[in-house]
Amino acid sequence: MKKSILVTGGAGFIGSHVVRRFVNKYPEYSIFNLDALTYAGNMENLKDIEHKENYTFLHGDITDEVFVNSIFEKYRFDSIIHLAAESHVDRSITDPLAFAKTNILGTMILLNAFKELWKGNWEEKLFYHISTDEVYGSLGENGLFEETTPYDPNSPYSASKASSDHFVRAYGETYGLPFVITNCSNNYGQNQFPEKLIPLFIHNIINNKPLPVYGDGNYTRDWLYVIDHAIAIDLVFHQGILTDTYNIGGFNEWKNIDLVKLLCQQMDEKLGRAIGSSSQLIAYVKDRPGHDLRYAIDASKINKELGWNPTVTFEEGLSKTIDWYLGNKEWLANVTSGNYQNYYKEQYQ
Ligand code: NAD
Ligand code: TYD
Repeated sequence: MKKSILVTGGAGFIGSHVVRRFVNKYPEYSIFNLDALTYAGNMENLKDIEHKENYTFLHGDITDEVFVNSIFEKYRFDSIIHLAAESHVDRSITDPLAFAKTNILGTMILLNAFKELWKGNWEEKLFYHISTDEVYGSLGENGLFEETTPYDPNSPYSASKASSDHFVRAYGETYGLPFVITNCSNNYGQNQFPEKLIPLFIHNIINNKPLPVYGDGNYTRDWLYVIDHAIAIDLVFHQGILTDTYNIGGFNEWKNIDLVKLLCQQMDEKLGRAIGSSSQLIAYVKDRPGHDLRYAIDASKINKELGWNPTVTFEEGLSKTIDWYLGNKEWLANVTSGNYQNYYKEQYQ
């Protein structure tokens, strides 16, 4: 069936993998990518598909209500996959208002445009909201986040995502807007901006710079390869039950320091450096304020109901990720020039 799908944030890390998958796999769908091209958005991420007939790029901001309404009117999207967001916890600590604006207000503007366009004619329509496991707050040493875990966000980033999740649900309850939400764990893979742990440390190892591990390094995250997330999004988009939430995770918990040691080992091998040389770059630095101790996802619902499972092990995914960064040094050089240098100085010095 033909569909007109708006993907927001499609020039970013996860969004670019979602856009590529949908454009290539569903030539009968029209895929529109709305992106403001902030520091995190990069047209290079979609070079390979930008010429495709079923793909259109729309440069604009989700917080610009007039613009958003105009494109809804013009293209009459029947489905939205909403990924556009400010996505980095550290930046949310320095500039929380930017997160409220994009993540909360931007989501509301999209919800409202969708509501106004279809005015209750909801057949074959879908608003798919991409969220994070961070809305659930922090776990202790044991336990897993389930879909029923109460929201308890701790950072301005997770609070803004939690708020946007609530607005999606509220539009569902109040106006009958058809929605589905997924809450995913930490993603890694190619095209991730080098502010998040894994690409930042790959970049620093290449350049022999210190690896700033926050606090004692005993914080735990569940890691998922970005292409496995895109596969899950495809499944939920087509088969997810309306008004349901699905947790997505890698069944793959790592303490930061153990992950960093594995990364150092793989980097030494790939760069032909003496084993142990990259780990000498590890530098324990001041902790992140409000740092969540542990995230871990129970992804059994999406596994049982939709048959989803990660396709790569962490060791394989990490190896592919490093290979991509080593093979795309120009991409890395471009995104780390200019403003990145100021960001890095302010964050780490
Ligand atoms: P990202 O920061 O790499 O990309 C965000 C994209 O959104 C960029 O292309 C940026 O230009 C665009 N954008 C930002 N503000 C915008 C605005 N006002 N209008 C239009 N476009 C705007 O983010 P990501 O890591 O790809 O995350 C995508 C989504 O997935 C986010 O909603 C995030 O909360 C969620 N998520 C991310 C992770 C993760 O580990 N990265 C995990 C779970 C959920
Ligand atoms: P990050 O990639 O920022 O993702 P999130 O905060 O959304 O989980 O961080 C992952 C973990 O790595 C988190 O516990 C914070 C830690 N971390 C560092 O120790 N040093 C760093 O420079 C960064 C960016 C993160």
